[in-house]
This record gives sequence, structure tokens and C-alpha cells, in this order.
Amino acid sequence: MTGPPDFAQARGRRQKVLAAGLDPGHWYPVEYERALRPGTTLATSFWNRPIVVWRGHDGSLHALEDRCAHRQLRLSAGVVDGCHLTCEYHGWTYRGDGRVVHYAHDLFGRAEPEVRVRGYPVTVRHGLIWVFPGDPARAGERPVPDIPELTGPRPWPRMDISYVWRAHHSLIIDNTSDFTHAYLHRKYRPFWDARLTRHRPTPDREGVEISYDAFIGGGRFVRHFVNRERADTTSIDITYHYPYQCSDTGGYIKHWLFLLPMDRRTTRVFFLFYFKADGIRIPGTALTVPYRLTAPLMRAVSALTARPTLSQDGAAVEGEQRGYERHFAAPAVELNPAVRLCQDLTIRKWGEHLARNGTDARPRPGDRPRPGPGPGTPQSP
Ligand code: FES
Ligand SMILES: [Fe+2]
Repeated sequence: MTGPPDFAQARGRRQKVLAAGLDPGHWYPVEYERALRPGTTLATSFWNRPIVVWRGHDGSLHALEDRCAHRQLRLSAGVVDGCHLTCEYHGWTYRGDGRVVHYAHDLFGRAEPEVRVRGYPVTVRHGLIWVFPGDPARAGERPVPDIPELTGPRPWPRMDISYVWRAHHSLIIDNTSDFTHAYLHRKYRPFWDARLTRHRPTPDREGVEISYDAFIGGGRFVRHFVNRERADTTSIDITYHYPYQCSDTGGYIKHWLFLLPMDRRTTRVFFLFYFKADGIRIPGTALTVPYRLTAPLMRAVSALTARPTLSQDGAAVEGEQRGYERHFAAPAVELNPAVRLCQDLTIRKWGEHLARNGTDARPRPGDRPRPGPGPGTPQSP
């Protein structure tokens, strides 16, 4: 074997989890809403499936598989026409449902052919654009998680941070579920002295609950702003709420982590941290920071501690990915039982997805197209 095994061939938990995808039957974020301007396209992917998202000049959002049904060029290189997308080569124009509605050339006396590519449901929530890569008929069954703290007239101050990390999605869930890596962050100290106090599957077995006693938010910049009279920052509850993750520190510091598994070794991560405003104080006083100053404060926290800390995590998981690819046959040593539970859930959910869909539909680079019903036909998920 020259490289890590695929899911069917994988042996043991570590090989299995590192070959597992995420169930396409959930909503996945692809970009910040503000980053996709009217008249522009975004080339992204879900587990090796190329997807184009575009925003029409009227502000509407659409998502299709990122290939022209004619000669398979990427539609993301095309031109937005009103609310449609036109392929740059021969000018076939696609509607948001994937139908070609205009051909910019002579059809040699034929009627317009009925051609379409696969469309994906798309929506906007929490400032993010979300795509549903699974069966569109099921898109309403599992909505994007509610975050009540971010709605209403006085949403909690928030901090958004995103990266593309060259690492399998499970390595990122491992990292954020496992507080034994305080050593990595010894400079910024976002948490320390962690002791695992709880780890168990959620009652519905769709998630994992993890708690640590730990000192949270004590880094050299942030600690001046945390009002510890109000906010108990000595423990944290984390939930792997498949395929997302969230946490709660004393009802005052919370986060969601949303992952876009682009392929087996590439994951876009969206961290969304939010803080209850009355837990943020003016340093050296018991006074709460005025609400209007919380947004610039979030930017400062992001630049001075959160981004540098998360960049350390990114470098670590990318190093772990490279290490796995070199040493995938080496025995795995996993000490943290919470990590094992998260990995078991990821493996089980991927196995269930494959059982429902018959096969691992994930193409590998260099795969030849499967014989199928022919170009222009929607492919089943
Ligand atoms: S390749 Fe897209 S229109 Fe011909
Ligand atoms: Fe970390």
C-alpha cells in the first residue's frame, strides 16, 4: 500500500476516522455572506465534489455543481448575468436550478436541448452562506443550528475566524475536543490545567458531550476583560453536535465550529465565538465595556490572541496530517477517551451514510468519470 487506506480498507479507529467523510445530509458553510458580492462566483467543494456558488446582481444566491454540462469547464470561471451564470466558453447560461436556459450560439437547426447540472439548496444564516450537499428533498429536515444569542436587537458580541487547513476534518474536531494540548499554547494560555470531568454520547447518540474543569480565557490580553465576578470561567462544556461543535463556558463565552470537508486532506473551518456583553469589563474596574465598543474589542482580541492561538492549532493539525500520511501504518496512541468517542461517532455516521447510499461516492483525484446516465442529467447524491 502506498498511501493511507480508504474507508473500506482501513483497519483500526485511526485509519477509519481519517478516511471518513462527513454526511452530506447536513448544511455546510462555504463562505461569509459579505465575502460574495453581487455578480461574483465562488469555487468551493464538498468532499471532492466541486461546487460553484454565485450571487446574482439582484443579491440572490445559487449553488450548482461546478462543471458545464457541455465540455466540463468550471462554471465558477463564468460570468454572472442577472441572476443566471453563463459558461465562459460557448456561453451556455444556467439558471439556479441547474437548467440551461440560453445558448449563445447556433444550434444547427435543433430545438434547444434539455440540459441541466445538479443544483444544491443554499441559504444564509449567522452571516454565513450554507450549502446542502445531500438529497435536496431532505434539506428541511436538519436546519442550520439556531444561535439565539446572535439574534434580536442586542446580539452578543461575536468574533469570526476562518481558515483553510490542509488537514482531515476529524483532526480538527480532535484538536478542539482535547484540552491536553495546552502546551502548544503556552504563550497565549487560552486554557490550562484541564481535567476531563465528563465524556459521553448524547442521549440521541447524534453527538458527544465533553466537560473539562480548566482555567479558560486567562490569556495575557483577554484576562483583563473577563469579569470573573460574573462569569465562571473554571469549566467548559463542549458538544460535538455532529457535524458541528459548540462550547459553553459559564454561560458567558460560547463558540460554534463549523467545518467544510473540501476533500480528504483539506478542510475549511469557521470559528464563531460570542461573548455575553455584561461579562466583558473595562480592565482594572468592575464596569462593563459599553456595548458599542465591543465590536472593536472583538477585533483586537481576534488579532492579538485568538488568531495567533488558532494558527498554532492549524500548524499542529497540518503537521499531524503530514505525519499520518507518512506513518499511517504506525500504531495509534490515543489517551483521551473524549477523542475516541468523537472519532467513533464520525466513523459510525460515515458508515451509516455509505450504507444508505451504497458506496463511497467520493471521487479521488485522477478518477475517470463513472459511466452514468450521460451529461446533463442530475446525479443522485
Ligand atoms: S463548455 Fe460551457 S458552454 Fe461550452
Ligand atoms: Fe488549541
